[in-house]
Order: sequence, then C-alpha cells, then structure tokens
Amino acid sequence: MLTNDQLDKWDRENFFHPSTHLGQFARGDLANRIVTGGKGVYIRDRDDTELLDAFAGLYCVNVGYGRSEISDAIAEQAKELAYYHSYVGHGTEASITLAKMILDRAPNHMSKVYFGLSGSDANETNIKLVWYYNNILGRPNKKKIISRWRGYHGSGLMTGSLTGLELFHKKFDLPLEQVIHTQAPYYLRRADESMSEEEFSADCAEKLEALILKEGPDTIAAFIGEPALGTGGLVPPPAGYWSAIQDVLNKYDILLIADEVVTGFGRLGSMMGSDHYGLKPDLITIAKGLTSAYAPLSGSIVSDRMWDVLMRGTDENGPIGHGWTYSAHPIGAAAGVANLKLVDELNLVENAQKTGRFMKALMSEALGAHKNVAEVRGEGLLIAVEFAEDPANRKFFDPSLGTGAKLAAALLKRGVISRAMPQGDILGFAPPLCITKDEAKIVVEATADAVNEVLGA
Ligand SMILES: Cc1ncc(COP(=O)(O)O)c(C=O)c1O
Repeated sequence: MLTNDQLDKWDRENFFHPSTHLGQFARGDLANRIVTGGKGVYIRDRDDTELLDAFAGLYCVNVGYGRSEISDAIAEQAKELAYYHSYVGHGTEASITLAKMILDRAPNHMSKVYFGLSGSDANETNIKLVWYYNNILGRPNKKKIISRWRGYHGSGLMTGSLTGLELFHKKFDLPLEQVIHTQAPYYLRRADESMSEEEFSADCAEKLEALILKEGPDTIAAFIGEPALGTGGLVPPPAGYWSAIQDVLNKYDILLIADEVVTGFGRLGSMMGSDHYGLKPDLITIAKGLTSAYAPLSGSIVSDRMWDVLMRGTDENGPIGHGWTYSAHPIGAAAGVANLKLVDELNLVENAQKTGRFMKALMSEALGAHKNVAEVRGEGLLIAVEFAEDPANRKFFDPSLGTGAKLAAALLKRGVISRAMPQGDILGFAPPLCITKDEAKIVVEATADAVNEVLGA
C-alpha cells in the first residue's frame, strides 16, 4: 500500500526513465504506472488495477511474480553475506553452485561462466573476450563484429552498436566503427517474394559471405545473433538459417556469439535456444531468465576452445584485466540458484513448449484470417502478431499511424499487457513461462477484441 500522494509529482520531477519520451513524460502527457505487487502472471498497481502481464516485464520474469522460494533465498543470502567480491579466486557457495547449474544446462562444449549484471554488460564482456582471444592468437587485425539489422544486444556503446535498430544509433554517434550489420533473417519482409524459406536462408548466408569478403576475412572476428530475433520483431529463424550461417562462419574462422538473454532457460520450449536450433556457439550471453529478474545477474558462457586460449593469455600476460565490483554478486547468485531450481520443479520448459503451442494455435485461429494480420508466428512462449494494411501484397501500415501502439493500448484497456515492438506494427507476447492455458485464452480473447476495436472485424 502506498501512502505518499506526492509520488506522481516526484516521478515526473526526478526520475529519468529509460526508453521513454522524456518531454512527454515530464509534461505529464505520458501516463505513468506505479507498480506495487505481482502474483503469478499478474501485476498490480497502486490504484489496485490488476493486469495480466503477457510480456513478463521485459520478457524476464519467467517463473512469474511473487515466488517466495526466490525472495526467501535472497533474504537468507543478504542476512548471511550480502556481498563479497569474486576477484582473485574469491567466491560464495551461491556463485559457485550457480556456475555449475548453468553449465549443466548449457551445450556440452561450454566450459566456464563469467558473471555480470545485465545483458548489455555481458555482451560487452563477450566482445572484449573475442578481441583478447584474437590478440593472444596473434591476429591483431581480426576484430570486427558482424551483427544483424533488427538484432538487439543492449544499449551500451558497443552493445548499442551491435543492436541493429536505428533508434539506438541515431544521435548517439553509433555504431562504433568495429561493428557492421548484415541482413535480418526476417522471412516475411524478404525483398524477393518468390523465395522459399530455404532460399531466403541461403540468401542470408550469401549476403554474410559477401560482406566478409568485402571487409576481408582476416578482419572479421565474430558474428553475434539471437537464436530467434527478439526486440527486432520476435521472429524465429527461417528453415535452414543457422546451419547455412554457421557454414560460412566456420569457413572463415569467425567466432559465434549466441545472445540468449531472451531465449536462455526455457523461453522457446527448450532449455537453451542454441540447442533448440543446433547452434554451436563460442560464447553464450545469458541474463533475464537466469534469475527471472528477481535480482540483476547476467553471464557470459565461454566455450572450451576459447577458454584454452584465455588461459594461455593469462600465462603470458598476467591476470585478466576485466571484472566488475558486482561480478557474481551473492544476492543475484542466490536468486539464480533458487530460480533455476524452480524452473525444473515447475516443469516450466515443458510448459513453455506446450502452452506456447496452444497459445499460438489459438491466436492463429482467432486472428490468422483477419484482413490486417500479416502473420502469427512464434516459438514456445515467444509469440507475435504482425499487422499490415494489405498483407497479401505485404503493404505495411504507415509507421506514423502508430497502429501497433494503438493495438497495445486497446489491449491494456482490457487488462492485458503486451508489447508494441519498436519497429513495425507487431504485438509481442512473452508471458511468464508458468502461464496456464486458461490465462493464455484470456490473452488471445482480449487481443482479438482489441484488434476488432482498432482495425475492425
Ligand atoms: C537479446 C538481448 N540481448 C541483450 C539485452 C540487453 O540486456 P539488458 O537490458 O539487461 O542490458 C537484451 C534486452 O532486452 C536482449 O533482449
């Protein structure tokens, strides 16, 4: 229960909100929401409005809200030892246990986990490790990183550069010069409509190879990608995409970074997205689902082959010059241990697969034939509905109409939080992995209703 009636004023006067229209917010033209509680898939705000959060915060509260197993573990850790660092061989029971639990769930060829705090900083770590690796191997020019348009990898200097969305570049002097972008694996928006999925995957691989040859293979260090595109549109890869891409990377000795910040720990209905799509990454980025966001924690999982070179590097140069004060923070680690146990105990990976399939089928049934629905797509509990003015001719709505945002607002009026994805008119759904079929039905029915209101039947 909140008693401070000044909160709204203080919020607008003092709080710099991320990813927010600053002027609109300060002037009071953009509503705020002060969130006070949550249970399962629902959150509650200070006006006691209950909302079904079909985006799990920022697709991170995978076990759902209000899990005392995790909050108790956090409290116990805080009482016993709130902090100690992990430099020079220090650790805690929680951080050591969590590293083991992560590797038990990661692809077999992965070797060690470095802990950070956010998806962005874990990707910064990954790029530094790639550069270090090539310096130790005596390849000082092999440093450029290829990312995809519409990829999302964070909003730091390097990670904002990797992110392939214009909003994250323009006016920030990004991307940095070491980052280049290649075609997004977005079949619906392919340039040549006559291509099959397999042909389009081959085209993505050909464009990647052409870029590598243009830049010079000796200058390209790594390729980074989310197993399934997230913020760029919630797009599972077209058939054959990852095997075609990995063939090119192997040919030119280019490392693969799988950014599993969204897909790690169950979102796609498999424990890891890399295993789901047959990726063999050199580095895996994890965050969100690692603690279900009960505490900030991220990780970089390092493969055997990279680990060997990193060890050689420290034998030759001394301790690795990389670390944060809060690396492997005990409270985050305790949250991670309790969270991964819950994911297992509640069978959430299986639920993501089964309820995800159910929800996507129901969404297709409700909206697949709607005149403005271009596609209902998804994998596990990562589901999107994309809208267009004339789907048959792939004529999308004029972005200035804000159709996606209007749809999300209409859905919110009906008590359901979705996400209007930032590029295109795409409603995104990524609910907690504990969502039931009945709750999934509520989401789909409210969506159909909202679509009727905004776009007609
Ligand atoms: C795939 C992916 N990578 C990295 C990030 C960045 O994570 P963070 O916001 O914790 O820095 C995100 C955030 O949404 C993400 O979706």
